[in-house]
Amino acid sequence: KETKDQLIIDAGQKHFGATMCKSCGMIYTASSPEDEMQHVQHHHRFLEGIKYTGWKKERIVAQFWDGKILLVLPHDPSYAIRKVEDVQELVDNELGFHQVVPRCPNKTKTLLFISDEKRVVGCLIAEPIKQAFRVLSEPTGPSSKECHRAWQCSDVPEPAVCGISRIWVFRLKRRKRIARRLVDTLRNCFMFGCFLKTDEIAFSDPTPDGKLFATKYCNT
Ligand code: ACO
Ligand code: ZN
Repeated sequence: KETKDQLIIDAGQKHFGATMCKSCGMIYTASSPEDEMQHVQHHHRFLEGIKYTGWKKERIVAQFWDGKILLVLPHDPSYAIRKVEDVQELVDNELGFHQVVPRCPNKTKTLLFISDEKRVVGCLIAEPIKQAFRVLSEPTGPSSKECHRAWQCSDVPEPAVCGISRIWVFRLKRRKRIARRLVDTLRNCFMFGCFLKTDEIAFSDPTPDGKLFATKYCNT
């Protein structure tokens, strides 16, 4: 069955006949009732999760023509914390992370990118760290997508200040420099009074997307 918004997406493996929902961004096979069901469930939960209704108190740390970045700290009002938890759950679902407990939950800093349509379209979670291990191998070629997150790391620790445990941008808003603006803003507000250098920040357990972004970000 051919429809107008039928796409063939090359995401490592090819999803033939896959459709991408134009509002929630989920890729699914419209011809499969099971997939369709999953989409309906995901669609509602996801759009509810990224909805931003406006808060009585919000800490705006950056403003742009297409949105703003809010900083959420551990002792903020429960409505803010709950939103961060909801968004993190969606992100973890997408990334396949399960219950990663932060090392110092009271030092976690979360940045949310709020779009003009009042949606949380970007999220960055950071925590203080003391050291990081450099990624050594650069998997290349067609098999690189298969060794998902199997990067080889150096066993020599290097000093670092800030660890990014999550960075995520809503699928339909990617490649608009939202992740870049989140990291720029983080470098500015992670430690009072200084702008962190790129080698003071580390990305933990990067996905292939995360690694492509981090490599590009740190070289420019
Ligand atoms: N492929 C190739 N290059 C990329 C990619 C990609 N998928 N994503 C970013 N880049 C590079 C590009 O050079 C880009 O600049 P350009 O668009 O001018 O060429 C540059 O990085 C800046 O990209 P942004 O637009 O700022 O990145 P974006 O807002 O699209 O977000 C992110 C990148 C967060 C990785 C997004 O793709 C995403 O949410 N992916 C799914 C979740 C994920 O894997 N997150 C990383 C997990 S690892 C961790 O959390 C520590
Ligand atoms: Zn949808």
